[in-house]
Amino acid sequence: MGIIIKSPEEIGIMRQGGRILASILKRLSEEVRPGVRTRELDEIGVQEMKKYDVKSPFKGYRGYPANICVSIQDELVHGIPGERVINKGEVVTLDAGVIYRGFMVDAAVTVAAGEITAEARSLVEATREALEAGIKAARSGARLGDVSSAIQVYAESRGLGVVREYSGHGVGRELHEDPQIPNFGVAGRGPVLRRGMTLALEPMLTAGDWRTRVLDNMWTVVTQDGSLCAHFEHTIAIGDNEAEVLTSLG
Ligand code: MF3
Ligand code: CO
Repeated sequence: MGIIIKSPEEIGIMRQGGRILASILKRLSEEVRPGVRTRELDEIGVQEMKKYDVKSPFKGYRGYPANICVSIQDELVHGIPGERVINKGEVVTLDAGVIYRGFMVDAAVTVAAGEITAEARSLVEATREALEAGIKAARSGARLGDVSSAIQVYAESRGLGVVREYSGHGVGRELHEDPQIPNFGVAGRGPVLRRGMTLALEPMLTAGDWRTRVLDNMWTVVTQDGSLCAHFEHTIAIGDNEAEVLTSLG
């Protein structure tokens, strides 16, 4: 397939979609509190998507049954919204995408439901910062391995586990385009980053061992050792120098 380069006009569309997604994720983050069911977050996600006239690229993707992913505590990714109630002190990952005028963007945040432990706070903060480190490394002319390595080095410097089984990815025409972007790797290797590449960077980090397994529902990914985990994701566009974050409020 190869990496699909987007024109400035196409990136303009993804920027608009990215802003919409950022507002939706902001709204959803504000709704995360003890007592809320994950299904209610999915419903709010649907309402918000209707309001902005966008669609979820997750719904029906390989049979995924919901519109967003909500993953709690040791759930890393692909938590299916349902009857589970969020408890005080839990960390909740909201992962969402939108399709806007034919283009997709993808983003995720981990937020706290009330007070969380110092260990959980540190995990969440370090995962956000690992994403920042990846974005900084994603400069035009750098190599993909520089991005992977920046994320891994930062995460491991904070003593966290780097999940190996799930990666970032190209995004735009499809939810998952080339290249795959592991959260670990060797600087100086891999394809050179060029203007017009649109990438979803998404460090998935654990407070314990990095190994994961999939629950019987065939979707929800949890840590094998039950340790807490966090996940942040942005869709970025490679520019002339630094990358532009498309999934921010602008
Ligand atoms: N944001 C995730 C990703 O990057 C979620 C997609 S899984 C889905 O791949 F099935 F829910 F779509
Ligand atoms: Co993604």
